[in-house]
Amino acid sequence: MKDLNTFYIRTYGCQMNELDSEILITQLKARNLAQVETETEADIILLNTCSIRDLAEKKVLGKLYEYKKDKKDKIIGICGCMAMSQKETLLKKFPHLDFLIGTNNLLDITKVLDDFLSKNTQMKKLDIDYEKELENFYATRDNKIKASIAIIRGCNNHCSYCIVPQTRGKEVSRDSKSIINEAKYLANLGYKEITLLGQNVNSYGLDKPDQNYLFPDLLYDLNKIDNIDRIRFMTSHPKDITKDLMYAIRDLDKLCEFVHFPVQSGSNKVLKEMRRSYSAEEYLEKVNLLKSITPNATIGTDIIVGFPNETDEDFEKTYKLFELIEYDTAFIFAYSPRQKTYAARKFEDNISNEIKQKRLQKLLKLFHSILEKKYKALIGSKKEVLVESLNKDGIYLKGRTREFEKVIFKGDKSLIGKLQIVEITGFSYQTLKGKVI
Ligand code: 5AD
Ligand code: SF4
Repeated sequence: MKDLNTFYIRTYGCQMNELDSEILITQLKARNLAQVETETEADIILLNTCSIRDLAEKKVLGKLYEYKKDKKDKIIGICGCMAMSQKETLLKKFPHLDFLIGTNNLLDITKVLDDFLSKNTQMKKLDIDYEKELENFYATRDNKIKASIAIIRGCNNHCSYCIVPQTRGKEVSRDSKSIINEAKYLANLGYKEITLLGQNVNSYGLDKPDQNYLFPDLLYDLNKIDNIDRIRFMTSHPKDITKDLMYAIRDLDKLCEFVHFPVQSGSNKVLKEMRRSYSAEEYLEKVNLLKSITPNATIGTDIIVGFPNETDEDFEKTYKLFELIEYDTAFIFAYSPRQKTYAARKFEDNISNEIKQKRLQKLLKLFHSILEKKYKALIGSKKEVLVESLNKDGIYLKGRTREFEKVIFKGDKSLIGKLQIVEITGFSYQTLKGKVI
């Protein structure tokens, strides 16, 4: 085997996976491996994978077939959710795949690599339990302005369609001191925004009842850290969004006014079969409470269309609820059966792709008309933007408002990393345009 000098990593899926990749990269760099931008240059190829929908898995399988044809002497590893959901099946199916690293074994990457090098046989590390050593591990991030911090990993919910409990195990909250120390460390490095991550951040602390320290407590403590301008969190289960959290959004100056409040469906029949544990009415009541406590907060959602047995009437209920709430961000997905989930075992995937796509497009159209109305009303208003970078076009600066709207405007690069008041002058699609005032 030739000397190992370089690695390439590609990340699929959610923000937690992005953070997990940063953790992997930090260790590989500490082992004197250099990160490269293309597979061709790399001695090691890592795919940090997602299993949430069939399409996410297909992209990775496509890559594995590609590498099968032309592996050369590269080492290939699969990390993340697909390693957990497919396990040995992947190793059997792809004999040229060298190792698997699960979502709870991020800190084993160099050991697995060394074991593979010494034994030259397929390796795997796929624990379902939380990796304790991760408590105090700080990743090095590429972005110097915003950083994610994991506060809770795993998921104890039983949404019938979802594979995440299988791929990430039970909920384990990270020690609050460790989170606060990492946030202070990032503040000292000059970071301006932190995003608290978890499959369900609102459950933070519930697994350690003796400590009597829950998500709002953490938010109040983090809000005291000097130099951090903004705190965000992602993602929430509606059943766990409490009044205390709403008061925290109202009262904490750094906590941004945006709540991801994923409804999934507006039909009680579908919600029940999804095992979401709330009705559309209960959900709406909570949204109304949020709107009354924090009138300026924006609200985001995730929606699944084409869940088994979803009728036109069920879909209409989702449509009506969407229209009523007027979401500010929305991720709309076609149902995709996931192996070993309750829904995949119990129900036939009996809504055709054509109908799923029709429903998806109909909701997207509604979403865009809502945004158009909202963004038109914002013209002339002033917004505080945290300037993140140069926009892709290389002309504008790009940033986000506290309410998570994307804004581009012309300005000097020295504004990057700073808070800037911008007057909204127009918009195109999901991007607001503005000018410095
Ligand atoms: N099919 C389609 N979408 C899904 N999601 C989760 N599981 C599935 C599935 N089996 C969506 C949900 C969730 C988001 C992260 O992905 O809307 O909130
Ligand atoms: Fe994908 Fe869910 Fe795993 Fe994130 S936690 S990578 S969304 S399957």
